[in-house]
Amino acid sequence: MTTPPPAGSGRRRPISRKTVLKAALVAGTVPLLAGAGPALARDLAATGAPLAPTPACDDGDDPTPEQMEGPYFKPNSPLRTSLVTPGTPGVPLTVSGYVFSRSCTPFPGVLLDFWQADDNGAYDMAGYAFRGHQFTDSTGAFALTTIVPGLYPGRTRHIHVKAQAPGGRILTTQLYFPGEPRNETDALFDPALLMTVRDDGSGRQGSFDFVLPEEVDPGNPDPPVGTWASGTTYASGGEVTYDGRDFRCLQGHTAAPGWEPPTTPSLWQAV
Ligand SMILES: [Fe+2]
Repeated sequence: MTTPPPAGSGRRRPISRKTVLKAALVAGTVPLLAGAGPALARDLAATGAPLAPTPACDDGDDPTPEQMEGPYFKPNSPLRTSLVTPGTPGVPLTVSGYVFSRSCTPFPGVLLDFWQADDNGAYDMAGYAFRGHQFTDSTGAFALTTIVPGLYPGRTRHIHVKAQAPGGRILTTQLYFPGEPRNETDALFDPALLMTVRDDGSGRQGSFDFVLPEEVDPGNPDPPVGTWASGTTYASGGEVTYDGRDFRCLQGHTAAPGWEPPTTPSLWQAV
């Protein structure tokens, strides 16, 4: 994580190039960096600004540390960015940020699967309350709407997450809250996984940037014609066309960039 903690948290870190890049993405102004991803290229094209001398975009960040999954993960969470409904008990919380490659490139299409305890510190093992997955947008950004998770015995406050780039391996980790007394006694707590959290009057706003070990696949700028489409949820047995060929879905999933039928024989069978 590269975002500095809020004032008064007692932890200070230097501002990294990725932090500057994130600020620029948020502000809509983009620095001219080597190795920039699709978002940067798009914005440069929009402004028509000439390329300036390009500093290396590598601040030496390690990938986001991995942590144990724990006993409460369930597969097949719903596709949704909000885990709350009107009247859900708890302190409102948003968690937002970006996913980057180690070379600072914003990572689009990354699967982020969140799960957490409810306001009372309990996990829903019968259903899918406080569970949901989403994909980073074209700028590598994500945003989760939830509540501050409750505490349960033996752990400090935390949110579980799995992150997976298209075609990449799964990174399982946990996000933590600054200023929590149990951070000092929880053996799993890692300050590198602290979110930046601030009060917004009615709730809290957290932010965190993930760094994945994979590099962004530039993809095919002119995808073949067909009915397959990224972001579509396909059921087992469903059929699509891709580049003039027919494929049958072998297991239900939500399509993501990099999971095109010809390249994912575990998901699609040519028919
Ligand atoms: Fe947990």
